[in-house]
Amino acid sequence: MTVSYHKKTIADVPVDGRRVLVRVDFNVPMDPAGQITDDRRIRETLPTIRYLIDHGARVILVSHLGRPGGRPDPKYSLRPVAERLQQLLGQPVTFVPEAVGPVAEAAVQRLQPGEVALLENVRFYPGEEKNDTGFAEQLAKLAELYVDDAFGAAHRAHASTVGVARFLPAVSGFLMEKELRMLGDALEAPRRPLVAIIGGAKISTKIDVLKNLLPRVDALLVGGGMANTFLKAKGYEIGRSLVENDRLTEAHDIIAQAGSKLMLPIDVVVAAEPRSDALPVVVPVERVPPDEMILDIGPKTVDAFAQVISTAGTVIWNGPLGMAELPPFAEGTLGVARALAKSSATTIVGGGDLVGVLEQLGMADQMTHVSTGGGASLEFLEGKILPGVAALEDK
Ligand code: 3PG
Repeated sequence: MTVSYHKKTIADVPVDGRRVLVRVDFNVPMDPAGQITDDRRIRETLPTIRYLIDHGARVILVSHLGRPGGRPDPKYSLRPVAERLQQLLGQPVTFVPEAVGPVAEAAVQRLQPGEVALLENVRFYPGEEKNDTGFAEQLAKLAELYVDDAFGAAHRAHASTVGVARFLPAVSGFLMEKELRMLGDALEAPRRPLVAIIGGAKISTKIDVLKNLLPRVDALLVGGGMANTFLKAKGYEIGRSLVENDRLTEAHDIIAQAGSKLMLPIDVVVAAEPRSDALPVVVPVERVPPDEMILDIGPKTVDAFAQVISTAGTVIWNGPLGMAELPPFAEGTLGVARALAKSSATTIVGGGDLVGVLEQLGMADQMTHVSTGGGASLEFLEGKILPGVAALEDK
């Protein structure tokens, strides 16, 4: 089965005066004091919300936050998100302390055209993650139109991402549209050469991405902990580095299938321990000391990757290239981010870990597109059909 990425959007349907239920992914990181530490996912939905406000819709936002397990937990309340959204929009946002039922129904009845309400965390209800039909119907009752702008949650078949679309006309918001266009074009009709950079700790979580990308890309650059398994499969000594011995055969197969498309590190940064006060040492990949660990790609590898990136038409990047949350091992990821920032390619980065690191390094805004999807962007790159996308009406 295939799925079209060309979905109807809010620009294709009348919204004036209508009550519109908008699924957003406001699952934002918060510190222990409940302060939002990164509001990208909120900011990215503003074009959709503003369009609906400007076109006289009554806007009802619904989201999850964290994994409260189907019951209310004040730790996961969306109230702080309503406050942040209000600041960003510059207009009041009514926080509704329920997502369904009489309180929610009364609140949405009071909404006037151009007004915005945010419902409480939809995962406070057991019906959400079970995609319970009755619960989806209760949500649908609040509105006349359903809009999905939650690309980050599109890989979940839940009541608010899939179930509700059975009861209401279902179209995409502008963030969903942008994500599908950027990621979809990169896979289906990229400006070539198409270069994929894949990092992260484990090969096991990226095998399906590698398999789906390999036939499509012109070059595949691999770094991060997962490169160790490839290096070991090629016969290198990798010391005490993280490795997945049960994946060596798959690594072999990918090496054989990829041929000259695959680029692995030629030098690496090693240390005795992954600590922020560690003394990093650069060694060629043939000389990893038996008692040390590989924790980053080295400068020659950064140069080699940068060379390939400089000629690319499109670059897709998922996963950091070293233990970049520790400053001594962030240089590889930073160097490659700089190469992307300099290139004229369309640059698309995704995956929660990498995006967090790029934010920290101040490089995120230099990319063409930073996906708001963590698991969702990974599943998209694996070639999977995202249920939240399949539920929307085709253009
Ligand atoms: C995410 O952060 O990747 C999405 O919001 C989905 O969250 P989940 O993994 O808890 O379903």
